[in-house]
Amino acid sequence: MDGAVLADIGSDHAYLPVHLVKQGKCTKAIAGEVNEGPLNSAIDQINKYNLSHLIKAKLGDGLSVLENEKVDSVVIAGMGGPLIASILENGKALLNDVEQLVLQPNVAADHIRRWMLDNEWCLVDEEIIEEDNHVYEILVAERGDSKKHYGMEMEKEIWMGPCLLNKKNHAFRVKWNREMNQLEKINNQLEQASDQEKLVGKKEEIIKKLTWLKEELS
Ligand SMILES: C[S@@+](CC[C@H](N)C(=O)[O-])C[C@H]1O[C@@H](n2cnc3c(N)ncnc32)[C@H](O)[C@@H]1O
Repeated sequence: MDGAVLADIGSDHAYLPVHLVKQGKCTKAIAGEVNEGPLNSAIDQINKYNLSHLIKAKLGDGLSVLENEKVDSVVIAGMGGPLIASILENGKALLNDVEQLVLQPNVAADHIRRWMLDNEWCLVDEEIIEEDNHVYEILVAERGDSKKHYGMEMEKEIWMGPCLLNKKNHAFRVKWNREMNQLEKINNQLEQASDQEKLVGKKEEIIKKLTWLKEELS
């Protein structure tokens, strides 16, 4: 969102807000941090580029730093999907005036997609990229019909990403081939385990996911 005011939650060194403000991609920003160490790193980075008049570093848990602020876009990056979803859930009353969410979970993006479905945020785009052997997933949402991009196989789409499934780029294949190998290993281990009865539910879940992966990666 060019010209927007952005809040980066869990900003750590504030690299993102500093970069976006320097590039003119956002006019002002908030770097939110729950921990003092990373907050001080953010302050150092902001001062290094003389941007303290445009970027405010704030100490606070999750979206609490949005209180008394007018923010257009919220970024939460570099955390697990469950933590990002819980930050959104705990602070959702503070999202009333926010137009856009940009979320980059390290793992388990499905938790965020479920939160969006339950809270009327429409997933407008998703990207997946590979860099230095790491795969990064980015979800962009705006208010609206949360089911818009979902089709008949909702559970699979929540797990793998409805927009990513449409594109199926190289990084997508890398990520899900790794996951398939992992699940096959776990499945083989479960086959060897002694108490098979207790494992029925877990094995069914793994077989369901392996079937989805074979459908989508073949
Ligand atoms: C792994 S770093 C990611 C930093 C940066 N966002 C990135 O993508 O490179 C996660 C940061 O989130 C902060 N954090 C974790 N939970 C938080 C919360 N509930 N509210 C605000 N910040 C949080 C941590 O202190 C840490 O600095």
